[in-house]
Amino acid sequence: MSTAKINSLALRQRKQKHQSGPPIVMITAYDAMFARLFDEAGVDILLVGDSLGMVIQGHPHTLTVTVDEVCYHGRAVARGTSQAHLVGDMPFLSFQVSPEDAVRNAGKMIKEGSFEAVKLEGGQTIADHIHRIVAAGIPVMGHVGLTPQHVHAMGGFRVQGKTPVDAERVLNDAKAVQDAGAYSLVLEGIPAELAAQITASLEIPTLGIGAGNACDGQVLVGYDMLGLQPHPSARFVKRYAELGHEIITAVRTYAHEVRTREFPTEEHSYQGNPSNP
Ligand code: KIV
Repeated sequence: MSTAKINSLALRQRKQKHQSGPPIVMITAYDAMFARLFDEAGVDILLVGDSLGMVIQGHPHTLTVTVDEVCYHGRAVARGTSQAHLVGDMPFLSFQVSPEDAVRNAGKMIKEGSFEAVKLEGGQTIADHIHRIVAAGIPVMGHVGLTPQHVHAMGGFRVQGKTPVDAERVLNDAKAVQDAGAYSLVLEGIPAELAAQITASLEIPTLGIGAGNACDGQVLVGYDMLGLQPHPSARFVKRYAELGHEIITAVRTYAHEVRTREFPTEEHSYQGNPSNP
């Protein structure tokens, strides 16, 4: 059975149906293999996050990731996706410098990364940049609260909005992103009560990560929720599988069987006389 591709307009409209409809499901993917599996599992949104700098490239933060790298992974993910909406993360300094730069790089992500929307971290200070990208016809997903591209300014990956003043700042960021024309908004690393307040006050759907249960949807890094990252996970991550453990066990078994010549058996070998194929 083929199902229609999910688009930004349909996701935007699900906000109105939130009371009766199910929350939106989003997950990160970086290659065609995982994209195909996640798509088959029925997720609504696949995000090529700049988290690829950490989970794929092994950096301690996301700051080194380039537009070309996100586009490379976007093309791979697109090849494995038939139904989910495909969003690409705009990397550090690809959109902050000027609105012109932001539009140019967002356009490149659509043209060269096969994305259907882009995601930008930041609030009031980049509202004009979001507005210009949206005006160019590119759907924008916002991202406020704990914004990993500000890791140095935040003094680490720290929960945001814990004081009344900071909560007010995050709320104003969220409103600024909506007013600039974004169709959805990631809320990362903020208290559940603040996320609930923001979700209730916005007309666009919120997607929470470490932001409690009241958001209009949830997002997790695929490698985290599958248990591919080493323990311990961040508090907000639920490990739905322990694939890292499974992989180590499988590869140890393979190595043992190669070393003892148990593998390959006849079943995994081609038979036949080379002189008479
Ligand atoms: O880069 C990323 O994976 C993200 C999600 C965690 C929202 O921004």
